[in-house]
Amino acid sequence: MKEKLEQIKVDAEEEIKNVKDENALNNVKSKYMGKKSAFNEIMASMGSLSPEEKREVGSKSNEVRSFLQELFENKLTEIKNEELNKKLESDKIDITLPSKKRKSGTKHPLNIVREEIEDLFISMGYDVVDGPEIDTDANCFELLNLPPSHPARDAQDSFYITEEMLLRPHTSAMQVRSMLANTEKKPFKLICPGKTYRRDDDDATHSHQFSQVEGLVVGEDISLSDLKGTLELFAKKMFGKDREIRFRASYFPFTEPSYEVDVSCFNCNKKGCSMCKGTGWIEILGCGMVHPTVLENCGFDHTKYQGFAFGVGIERVTMLKYGITNLKLLYQNDYRFLKNFDRKEM
Ligand code: PHE
Repeated sequence: MKEKLEQIKVDAEEEIKNVKDENALNNVKSKYMGKKSAFNEIMASMGSLSPEEKREVGSKSNEVRSFLQELFENKLTEIKNEELNKKLESDKIDITLPSKKRKSGTKHPLNIVREEIEDLFISMGYDVVDGPEIDTDANCFELLNLPPSHPARDAQDSFYITEEMLLRPHTSAMQVRSMLANTEKKPFKLICPGKTYRRDDDDATHSHQFSQVEGLVVGEDISLSDLKGTLELFAKKMFGKDREIRFRASYFPFTEPSYEVDVSCFNCNKKGCSMCKGTGWIEILGCGMVHPTVLENCGFDHTKYQGFAFGVGIERVTMLKYGITNLKLLYQNDYRFLKNFDRKEM
């Protein structure tokens, strides 16, 4: 019997060598270890052996069983590995193939410009504050020194919700809010970007909703030269380092003196072109020194404190910066327009 068992080992080993797949392996396994196998027959006939023989054949058959089991297990691993390798070989990915371009969202040009303005002023130590789009007549007009008879307070020009409440027509309402909120009446500097509303008919250069950035600095010894230096930096940052600015006298009820600021034309460099209508200069914002009455209205002693303020239209800066000629493009969210601002596509 021991010889028979030894023979089973040799035969099985030989046969397994030639097996190519899992199915064939299972067949060989049942042939050598299954119910009807020679090995099983030997096990079944062990009962008739003497105790001496039983021990010997028993230990041999244990050896053969573990030998066969290991043989089958190793072969199975080998077959599985081979299958995996074949699969990996046939599934090979060519990582050099160009991928499909996916359309993704882009930053809106108005947000690009707003963030650029915010970055500049943050770098100069300004706070960026947010204010409500619906505000009181007092904050939008009255405390800003706009008398009740002022044409800007006409219901024809602003969107009034009640007699007292309206959609803010400018971010200057935030001048009042931030000065009133400053209970210790300490110096401060901030900008407030946000949406504003006016009863304008929408066309290529007007929109009933647009956006502004308000700037306000209040402190001791603040002068016009601080305002000029600040706006010069702003113009260079937005329109290029060679830009110059000039102040033109103007009028706003909440600043005194008041100015409109022009930037030297970045298209023709002051020679005169269609962009600057031949003047060499382009108007970009309104500004001035905070009116003493406004300081007093908001609890700041005008004999001790001065301030400057400016208001700049984000749409205007964006249109100038990117050569956009129709304001409507900024509100239509047309992908063909917006994709021009996608840095991935540039
Ligand atoms: N609020 C003014 C406007 O909307 C701009 C401005 C702001 C002017 C601050 C002076 C000071 O036109």
